Amino acid sequence: MKQPVRVAVTGAAGQICYSLLFRVANGEMFGKDQPVILQLLEITPALKVLEAVAMELNDCAFPLLHGIVPTDNAEVAFKDADYGLLVGAKPRGPGMERSDLLKDNGKIFSSLGKIIDKVASKNIKIVVVGNPANTNAYILSKNAPSINPRNITALTRLDHNRGLHQLAEKAGSKVADIKKFIIWGNHSTTQVPDITHALVNGKAAPSVVNDQAWTRDTFMPTVAKRGAAVIAARGASSAASAANAVVDHMHDWVLGTADGDWTSMAVASDGSYGIEKGLIYSYPVTCKNGEWTIITDLATDDFIVGKMKESEKELQEERDTCKELM
Ligand code: NAI
Repeated sequence: MKQPVRVAVTGAAGQICYSLLFRVANGEMFGKDQPVILQLLEITPALKVLEAVAMELNDCAFPLLHGIVPTDNAEVAFKDADYGLLVGAKPRGPGMERSDLLKDNGKIFSSLGKIIDKVASKNIKIVVVGNPANTNAYILSKNAPSINPRNITALTRLDHNRGLHQLAEKAGSKVADIKKFIIWGNHSTTQVPDITHALVNGKAAPSVVNDQAWTRDTFMPTVAKRGAAVIAARGASSAASAANAVVDHMHDWVLGTADGDWTSMAVASDGSYGIEKGLIYSYPVTCKNGEWTIITDLATDDFIVGKMKESEKELQEERDTCKELM
């Protein structure tokens, strides 16, 4: 049996984690031969609910769950952590400006960055889920200088998975038949869902769909605004599907993407496709041996490039709003 890995999870008593933690403990993220110790962080008022989550985790008798550390102390939660699932964030309240949300959540991530820098494993792999996820990851990275920026990512896999379903439905195929779909940019409504290079059963998706108006005017906004559609229907933001995407993101990063396919991850830009270096930007990537690689040199048309630049601009503006936190 392998040694257990320490998985720090923030916002552990929230909606997403009520689905996520059970799947991590069941081996769906790191493999069925990898034991885990869950180090669960919450704010003090949520500790009672966190206790109940820990009780339920124990009551599942997961063979791979080798320990639970519930705490409201981030230094305890991130001590020697090999992985960080950063879900906890303040929700946007009524009448709150986006810039206030950016600053409030930016403060959480700047303080977590400093703590991670101090107590976590130097090889910790992090996915930021709490919104605004890309900019939170950027702030965290700037406050954790001893952690390789390649190890700090943000979640756009939910957007990717949403796109797979919409495209499969239009093409009359199965999700498993779709390959090489891309989400570019920010996890926000400026994201760019791109089927240019996608394959449906090995055939070029744009010719299978054969409907540019649908692609641009229906598909792209449906994927980009799916989060709001779920909130309107459910009265709360996507939780089980977000948790599923976190499982997929970390699983593929650690255990590898499927042969002949790629996925979308928001990672530190290396300047590929003319995007400012260092921004946490969603790219098509393959993963092998725990390392991601951006797929470079894909041909992009003017329409997609224009949208990619809009999303870059939004990320630059978000970053500038939070400048004092870096
Ligand atoms: P939730 O409100 O149910 O849970 C969030 C939890 O975080 C709460 O229990 C809260 O007490 C905790 N928390 C707040 N500040 C904290 C801190 N400083 N340290 C530790 N814990 C803290 O929210 P839910 O539904 O679980 O969503 C969490 C976040 O994920 C939100 O920011 C949401 O916008 C985001 N999200 C991101 C998605 C993505 O694709 N990137 C998709 C869906 C949601």
